[in-house]
Amino acid sequence: MPTMHPVLARAGAFCERFGLRLPILLAPMAGASAPSLSIAVANAGGLGACGALLMQPQAILDWAAELRAGSNGAFQLNLWVPDPPPQRDPGHEAEVRRFLAQWGPEVAADAGDATPPDFAAQCEALLAAAPPIVSSIMGLYPPEFVARLKARNITWFANVSTVAEAKAAEAAGADVIVAQGMEAGGHRGCFDAARAEREMVGLFALLPAIVDAVRVPVVATGGIADGRGVAAALVLGASAAQIGTGFLRCPEAKTHPAWAAALAATLPEDTAISRAFSGRAGRSIATDYVRAATAPQAPAPAPYPVQRGLTAAMREAGGKASDAQRMQVWAGQSAALARAEPAAALVGRIWQDATALLS
Ligand SMILES: Cc1cc2nc3c(=O)[nH]c(=O)nc-3n(C[C@H](O)[C@H](O)[C@H](O)COP(=O)(O)O)c2cc1C
Repeated sequence: MPTMHPVLARAGAFCERFGLRLPILLAPMAGASAPSLSIAVANAGGLGACGALLMQPQAILDWAAELRAGSNGAFQLNLWVPDPPPQRDPGHEAEVRRFLAQWGPEVAADAGDATPPDFAAQCEALLAAAPPIVSSIMGLYPPEFVARLKARNITWFANVSTVAEAKAAEAAGADVIVAQGMEAGGHRGCFDAARAEREMVGLFALLPAIVDAVRVPVVATGGIADGRGVAAALVLGASAAQIGTGFLRCPEAKTHPAWAAALAATLPEDTAISRAFSGRAGRSIATDYVRAATAPQAPAPAPYPVQRGLTAAMREAGGKASDAQRMQVWAGQSAALARAEPAAALVGRIWQDATALLS
């Protein structure tokens, strides 16, 4: 009788623990977490996800209610752990505003004052929504909040991008480590914003190093978008694979058509990590705006979240004009592997391909 590949046995144990039928997780993506996508992924046996960074508490509760109305499946709610408040520099911000006015409308003098929703209130909303899994990025939850999660049997998934962060997360009580390679689309999850553009570790090196350094299960994320990537991640020691960009062309993702179309034509070398959109390092398509904003003569971006406020008008104008060159088109290095097909079919095919490689 054939025995199960040990890699599939490990993934199977992870699935059993979290009520999944296959070890494929939708990545939490702030601003790109339509409930319809999570419902489709959860109903296909994977894990749904909401990146709640930009959502007020009531919106978080509404998202969880909508998910539960559409699926009995498991899901994660995700927050960014806030950085210290930014150092403001009005003179420099004026320079950035003048630069941005070449790409969109005039930038209002107070545009940089926009702040994300209150973190403590968002944390209360997570507890009230009571998802099976809460995840973090950019740092670790405070010990009191971790204790409240555990008292409610909510599992904590901690996103990390270095071995040192993985060890710190495990020591702080994380139940699962999400290892984010630098291939990943969207923001890099480095705890220290100043290191995000220096400590760039690819998933092939990061994943086995973290698997060797911690005792809790490890989820792989960054540049995974097909069965080959999932199989490779499992062989390197992951218990599951988390996919972000690879889902953005699914109809349920409701991605702006100009963004979805641009992903299809994006080679790995066509993406870039910059602070040009929010002030925090993130990987997007290397658009005309990103290239100009990272050129030596351009003013350095303002710190997070000031830069996010300063770029809002340009991003909105870009979206209205369907001009991807001025939109915030986040993309991982495997963007071209994203398929424009229903999420359930995509999840099923990815897992079928992965298991064929591992049988
Ligand atoms: C549009 C977008 C938004 C994201 N927002 C978040 C977020 O709010 N929280 C988070 O933990 N990760 C966020 N990420 C990172 C993903 O969780 C994950 O690390 C990444 O998508 C994996 O790389 P891939 O896009 O190549 O699959 C985001 C990624 C994208 C593409």
